[in-house]
Amino acid sequence: MFAPLGRRYGSEFTVNLALFGQAVVISDPILVKDVFSASTDLIERPTGAGHLGEAFGPGSLCSLAGDELLARRKLVLPPFHGKRVRSYEHIIEDEVVREIANWPEGREFKTLPPMMRMTLNVILRAVFGAEGPALDELRGLVPPLVTMLGPIAVMPPPVRRDLGPWSPGGRFLRYRRRFDAVVDSLIAVARADPALEERNDVLALLVQARSDNGEPIPDRHIADELLTLVASGHETTSAGLAWTVERLRRHPALLSRLTEEVDAGGSELRQATIWEVLRTRSVLEGTTRRTKKRIRLGDWVLPEDTAIILSIRTAHASEESFPDAASFNPDRFVGASAPKPFAWIPFGGGVNRCIGAALANMEMDVTLRIMLRELRFEPTDAPGERRYWRGVATVPGRGGRAVVYRRKGKVSSDADSSSVATRPAEL
Ligand code: HEM
Repeated sequence: MFAPLGRRYGSEFTVNLALFGQAVVISDPILVKDVFSASTDLIERPTGAGHLGEAFGPGSLCSLAGDELLARRKLVLPPFHGKRVRSYEHIIEDEVVREIANWPEGREFKTLPPMMRMTLNVILRAVFGAEGPALDELRGLVPPLVTMLGPIAVMPPPVRRDLGPWSPGGRFLRYRRRFDAVVDSLIAVARADPALEERNDVLALLVQARSDNGEPIPDRHIADELLTLVASGHETTSAGLAWTVERLRRHPALLSRLTEEVDAGGSELRQATIWEVLRTRSVLEGTTRRTKKRIRLGDWVLPEDTAIILSIRTAHASEESFPDAASFNPDRFVGASAPKPFAWIPFGGGVNRCIGAALANMEMDVTLRIMLRELRFEPTDAPGERRYWRGVATVPGRGGRAVVYRRKGKVSSDADSSSVATRPAEL
């Protein structure tokens, strides 16, 4: 949305938007750094009317601000640290192997729907610790519930109320009550589990978490938090994966190099490719903040209560930060231990930085590795798919279409046995 304006007006400009009023749009890395590093006394992520926290509930990270937000992040972050997320790797492998076993050979299909199923299953198992009937129930409940969140967040409170079974508020609350009931049963099972301390899923860790003064997180807040995690983490990661397929089919030389690298047990080019996909096809177009006081930002003075939009897409299109920015060239990241902070910002930054960044990166890495190991993607010279905004994530407009062939015989559809049999040596 802001990319054409960025090309015309540069990295900073002001816009008037229905939802925000007047907003300052920024993308220059120095200003991005100033905003992300500012104290929460000066700049905060906006909460309240028109924001997703309204739909997630008062116990969601997205509804909290100031010290409450910092305290909650301290409790929620540990299960998402790089080392900890490695313990979810086998779940991702299971899901990818199960999913690609059903992909048709030699016939074009959209990869976005299977990626959505896969990332949903990963979150429900890794984050909710759900298996069996609870997993089945959540698989049916979560997709419609998540689709309702965006519209519900922007509805004025009177419209959002339960005005009958067919009203948007009524439907939402019905789904939300069922979701809460399943989460309540998962919490009860976790509390009764004598091996709770050995469990790795996020729900089990949230049930055991204690604040500095020894307080547990209230159960209602755990439900709000789990809804936040599944809604923030499932469509975004699947969009990143569908874009990966879309890009690779249009870069056959890179596709061959990546396949050779996987066969040789390497990963450097694959990681660089994931960074470049997230740079050139921003899954989230931007993120927002609001000034709490009058502040100086670069050459400007912003009055109190000014909306700031950090345009991720414009930041990633900067020629200064990324020479030949329009080209898809993962080699720009080969040899780097990480992309430049504040120039490469697909996961935002500062106290609201995406808590699922390490999990998303690992999911993309494991999925790409298994797809390249098992499948041959047919390249295409069709034009790149257009960006389509689904309300939260921006996805490939034609669903990230692919044509695939199996490389070494058919993968078994029995995920449990095939994941063990086909697990590569480097795992
Ligand atoms: C490719 C995948 C993903 C992308 C591109 C992405 C991107 C983002 C961005 C841009 C933000 C806003 C950060 C800010 O305002 O500074 C965010 C926040 C968030 N993300 Fe992600 N995300 C992804 C995957 C995930 C996953 C897998 C999870 C968890 C399972 C997750 C959970 C969250 C949460 C809870 C927040 C709110 C953090 C807070 O406000 O304190 N995300 N994400």
